[in-house]
Amino acid sequence: MIVLGIETSCDETAAAVVRDDRAILAERLFSQLAEHRPWGGVVPEIAARAHLERLDRLVADAMAEAGLAFAELDAVAATAGPGLIGGVIVGVTTAKAIAAVAEKPFLAVNHLEAHALSPRLVGELDFPYLLLLVSGGHSQLLAVEGIGRYRRLGTTLDDAVGEAFDKAAKLLGLGFPGGPAIEAAARTGDPRRYGLPRPLLGRPGCDFSFSGLKTALRQAIGEASSLTPERTADLAASFQAAVADALADRTRHALARFRRENARGRTLVAAGGVAANASLRERLAATAAEAGFAFLAPPQALCTDNGAIVAWAGIERLKLGLTDGLDFAPRPRWPLDPAAPKALGAGVKA
Ligand code: KG4
Ligand code: ZN
Repeated sequence: MIVLGIETSCDETAAAVVRDDRAILAERLFSQLAEHRPWGGVVPEIAARAHLERLDRLVADAMAEAGLAFAELDAVAATAGPGLIGGVIVGVTTAKAIAAVAEKPFLAVNHLEAHALSPRLVGELDFPYLLLLVSGGHSQLLAVEGIGRYRRLGTTLDDAVGEAFDKAAKLLGLGFPGGPAIEAAARTGDPRRYGLPRPLLGRPGCDFSFSGLKTALRQAIGEASSLTPERTADLAASFQAAVADALADRTRHALARFRRENARGRTLVAAGGVAANASLRERLAATAAEAGFAFLAPPQALCTDNGAIVAWAGIERLKLGLTDGLDFAPRPRWPLDPAAPKALGAGVKA
């Protein structure tokens, strides 16, 4: 089974050809960093236009590298939401057109599901498992019980973790995207120099909050007479440590609840762009071990947005016969667990 996967929900234009034995036959990715950097964040209009300009070429190149014609695919998958709607429309329309011409099934993939199933692209992993999904638009703890079966244990009450990293980097003048910049700056910094708050630490439940941390960082920057490279590194390290403490605390609660509610499944998975952060990975691995869970995070390139995880989610759905009609409408919002109560201020991208 071979599926083409297309990703255009945020600022990465990506296409990949993946086989059901987990082989990534070809992949192409264009990060629109230069386009958005002058604005300090992703501009939806610019993103949509950049997807439109690049996608056809990326798809053609990926197919050529895989040495396949569209007729040799088993299906075409695209992220159909949640995300910036202009970009999602570009990806979905392209995938539908290929599917229609090649007379192959179309698969509308939930971008969050692509992240949620990404560890199964890396290796054998049975359901259920506990997922910490941390990206630019989402911070969620989910019990992954099967394809299309997700139970949300916690979510962010305000900013997503990636968003918090991006805003913190902006405050520190470290540029965009913030996550990798903070991680790099933190490497030489002292994480104990600034006592930033650990939002919700010790409180019951599995929800997150990051806006107070951002405010505290702004204050700490204001109190410093100037942002020397050393101070910037210390602030970045202190911020990263506060995020790690908060994530570890919330995850600890979720691990306990997951254990109570599931007789099987003792693996914690971290996915999404923020899961690329090495120090967070280390911390989460320790948190999992304390609870008697294994820890797993896809390689960095499969944590941030890419076409392979979309193709893989497509393969998982195709195996179950879960194909979609060409009338499937792109969705700016598309929760994985529709039964979960709406959280205030939850982001729209993933
Ligand atoms: O999943 P993703 O590629 O895109 C979506 O949000 O859909 O996640 C992007 C987010 C950005 O906020 C970025 O700053 C963050 O992931 N990120 C990181 C790191 N690499 C990317 N955050 C912390 N540390 C990193 N190394
Ligand atoms: Zn994502």
